[in-house]
Amino acid sequence: MKIKNKGICFKFITEYFNLNPKFGSDKLYRMPQILESVSLKGLNTFGVEASARWFTEVNSEEDLFELFSDDQWKQAKRLIIGGGSNILFTQDFDGLVVRINIKGIRHEVKGTEVFVTAGAGEVWKDFVLYCVNNGFAGVENLSLIPGTVGASPVQNIGAYGVELKDVFYSCDVFNIESEKKQIFFKDDCGFGYRDSIFKKELKGKVIISSVCFKLSALPSVNTSYGAISHELTKRGIINPGIKEISEVVSEIRINKLPDPSTIGNAGSFFKNPVVTVEEFRQLQSVFPDIVHYCLPNSTIKIAAGWLIEQCGWKGKSIDDAGTWKNQSLVLVNYGNATGSDIYKLSTRIIADVEHRFGIALEREVNIV
Ligand code: EPU
Repeated sequence: MKIKNKGICFKFITEYFNLNPKFGSDKLYRMPQILESVSLKGLNTFGVEASARWFTEVNSEEDLFELFSDDQWKQAKRLIIGGGSNILFTQDFDGLVVRINIKGIRHEVKGTEVFVTAGAGEVWKDFVLYCVNNGFAGVENLSLIPGTVGASPVQNIGAYGVELKDVFYSCDVFNIESEKKQIFFKDDCGFGYRDSIFKKELKGKVIISSVCFKLSALPSVNTSYGAISHELTKRGIINPGIKEISEVVSEIRINKLPDPSTIGNAGSFFKNPVVTVEEFRQLQSVFPDIVHYCLPNSTIKIAAGWLIEQCGWKGKSIDDAGTWKNQSLVLVNYGNATGSDIYKLSTRIIADVEHRFGIALEREVNIV
């Protein structure tokens, strides 16, 4: 694996990432090349500056085999990224950043079931559109979530009453140590709330190259989430199809969440905390309005956005790091915040919530 000349590459690649939205096109990146000192600013949705000591982009499974057949890269400290939509860089990365850009979507209909397989580098919202436009039901509630298909099982993305695990069938992974391809089915993945085996035991050990989803060819929809049924009623829609659900979810997201292409953010910065019934009763006796949801396993999920808002942080900022005006669970970069500014803000929020409610918020975003 050749390392390209540092001086020329640094300038070219940083300018290209920042200015050209078509970064990653086949024209420029047929083979994985290792670049040195690469800016990651255009590769994370917070838009914060950080530099990778080495950087490469993988466009096929073959690229993965080639890359990790080289001992230098097999042993290097590394970071795998997709759309960079769930990461906060608080410092430069002194290792190899691997951006997964494996493309391709195909499907197979088997009776009323449809198996859709997408390359890990497919943009999630484009994959959802493919399914919605083909009439495949199951992922429409997950419309407009930023990020890539390959990142979706890692944190078991979820929104508006559906989680990735509800539609996940299997994924192909490349095992870096054994240099072999493996297949993981749903039960192998240890899915939990914004959690999976890929975040824990297998972190940094395997790379997801494609994901297979089991969807329905029947027009079954999930309108259980309050905001969806409310919006459908408002529009006078009684029997929604998957296109309508996708449109409604997209509109709710657009109104509520900042668009990362204009305001840097990584969606929910914290997880919603889960407490026992006893802990919840104590909290509710002091804070009767506390926003919560009962989970099937006799635990209670508390809306972290509500906790943060109660602490006075909604729409507030410290210099360019702030919380979003319509959803305080989302931290934003209003312009020139550094990763450390955003991290420091999150630390203050955690301290305030802990002080007021005795609840330790957990960050959902990966901190580097
Ligand atoms: N709320 C407030 N103040 C706020 C924000 C929320 O009081 O500033 C209260 C409101 O009562 C609101 C309730 O919290 O009705 C729930 O808010 P929302 O519907 O926005 O959901 P959430 O629990 O805050 C989760 C996911 C989101 C997902 C939505 C919708 C997590 C960490 N976040 O947010 O996912 O879009 O549900 O399903 O579970 C993401 O992961 O990046 C993400 C955006």
